[in-house]
This record gives sequence, C-alpha cells and structure tokens, in this order.
Amino acid sequence: MNDLNTVVESAKAAFAQATTPADLENAKALFLGKSGRITELMKGMAALPVEQKKSLGAAINLAKQAIEAALNARRQALADAQLQAQLQAEALDVTLPGRQRGQGGLHPVSITLERIEAIFGSMGFEVAQGPEIETDWFNFTALNTPEDHPARSMHDTFYVEGGTATAPNLLRTHTSPIQIRHAVQHVKKHRDALGAGSDGLFSGTMPEIRVIAPGRTYRVDSDATHSPMFHQCEGLWIGENVSFKDLKFVFTDFCRIFFESNDLMLRFRPSFFPFTEPSAEIDIQFQSGPLAGRWLEVAGSGQVHPNVVSNMGLDPEKFIGFAFGMGPDRLTMLRYGVSDLRLFFDSDIRFLSQFQ
Ligand code: PHE
Repeated sequence: MNDLNTVVESAKAAFAQATTPADLENAKALFLGKSGRITELMKGMAALPVEQKKSLGAAINLAKQAIEAALNARRQALADAQLQAQLQAEALDVTLPGRQRGQGGLHPVSITLERIEAIFGSMGFEVAQGPEIETDWFNFTALNTPEDHPARSMHDTFYVEGGTATAPNLLRTHTSPIQIRHAVQHVKKHRDALGAGSDGLFSGTMPEIRVIAPGRTYRVDSDATHSPMFHQCEGLWIGENVSFKDLKFVFTDFCRIFFESNDLMLRFRPSFFPFTEPSAEIDIQFQSGPLAGRWLEVAGSGQVHPNVVSNMGLDPEKFIGFAFGMGPDRLTMLRYGVSDLRLFFDSDIRFLSQFQ
C-alpha cells in the first residue's frame, strides 16, 4: 500500500511540475501510459492468487483514480492560466476616452451664400450656375462690353492658354455671363414649347426670368479688401413690365432680411456698367452698431441694356428688367465685422471655427 501512496504522490508532484499541456501529457504517460507505473503494477498482479488479486486490484484502482483526478485538476489549472495570460495580453482599456474627429462646419462665405439663396428663393428666384472658365463672348461681348474696355486687358483679367474668343479663354471676372447663359436657355425652352422656331428675337409670351447666380469669380487684384478669387452673386429679373422700382423693392427687402435690420437705409448711386442703362451702385447704411452712419457699397445694378436683352434672344421692345451683382464676401465681412478679406481664404481653423 505504501508503494501505491508513493506512486500517487510522485504522480502529483510530476503533474505539479509540468507547466505546459505537453509537459503534462508526458508526465501522464509515466504513470497511466502503456508502460506507465500503474499499468506495470496491474500486469504484476497476474501471478497472484485470486484473493490477493482482488484486494490489490481495488487498491490500484483507487490509486489510478487519484492520479486521474490530479491530472484533470492540473489540466484545468493550466488551461485557466493560459486563458488568463491571453486575456491580459489582449486587454483593452475601455475607459480611455475615444479619439474623436473634429466636427466640420460651413465656411462663413458658404453660410452667406445659403442665406442669399434662401432669401431670394422666398421671393421666387431660381438659382443658376455657369462655368468658371468662360468665353470672351459670354464674359464681355454679349454683355455689351466694348473691345477697348479696360476690364478686357491682361492687367485686369486672367486669360488661359489655348482659348479663342468663342472657346473658353478666361477666368470669368464676374457672374454676369450666367445672366446670358441662363436667359438663352430659358428663351429656347419656351420657344420650343410654343413651337415658335428659333429665328429672330422672341416677342411672344413666356414666364418671367427670375434668377440668382452665385459663384467664384477672378480678377488680377490683391489687398485687404480684394482677393484674386472672390465671390459674386448675380441677380436677374426680366419680364414685360419689370422696372427700377422693382429692383429697389427687391434689393431693399433682401438687405433688411439679410442683415436683420429693419431700419437699414439703401442708396442707389448713379454709375456706369456697359450691360445696364441706367446703372447704379447700391450702398447701405446701418443705423446702429459699429458701422452705423457710414455708406457701404454692396452691389452694382441697373436696368438691363437693350443690347444685352437682344443677346438673350429677346425683343428689347417687349422685354425689360434689371440685374444686380453683389459681393457675398463683402456681405460676410459686414455681417460679422471682419476687416481683412484674406482671412476667409487662409483656411485657418482658429478663424473659421468662430462662425460655427
Ligand atoms: N458685373 C458687375 C461687376 O462685376 C456687377 C453688376 C452686375 C452690375 C449686374 C450691374 C448689373 O462689377
């Protein structure tokens, strides 16, 4: 019996020493394997008398069970240890605050453009777009701008290589070419709908043209209040009976809503543009706040010149209207009290995030 106890104890010791599952299986073979200690003891019983066989066999079985129990306990312990090690190695600290993306927002000039579109939208104006690389025809000629007008010089306008007078050859200097592009399409659409053909100027009946055209524009100019790339928003309203009175009404309403100032004053100062006659610069004056009392120029405007109405494909004896072109960058500066236009285009997050 003592022998058996020794075998069980040495099995337990061997199992305890095994630190990996493979070691443990090797240790198991020493005791329970084909030529292990327990198996050898069983074989040794063959020659014994029956009575002895019985009692020794029972004792060996108990020893075997004790060894198996010790083996299973060690197996479990090694598996637990391995799991613990794995859990520790793969641990995630879920208490760390996550890395968040900064929240973006609209550029202040985009906020202004959205406001302009919403306000004119509520007055029934559509929004049109046009190409930034324009032809000489749409940017100047169709707008009644003479060959020798200073705006056509290299000094004022960015020309691109490879263009011709009718193929894109310059960066548009204003949004006014969109007037012509939009009007020509509008007229064509309604002529086609009427089956009116495309010859001559149209003098039939068509829905009014009421459109604004916001976009980027380019001039050779750079200082605190001028950037070579800037924004304009054109407005055009053409019908059979649209007058300067309507321009005054529409633009006054727009400015008062845009600046949220009911007592804002407007001044229409006589001016000259080749594409409008008569023409006026529009100045505004705040009655309160840091800019109160000063006249501030915000737009050019005028009654659309008959030559331009003709270039739209319309009979100028029948159709008449007004146009204006304003500077959304300048409107943004006035609304937020920003004194240097270049800040809008520096992409400095510290400046831009103030508008969110
Ligand atoms: N296109 C003119 C400019 O850039 C502005 C303007 C538009 C004036 C429409 C009158 C009518 O200066």
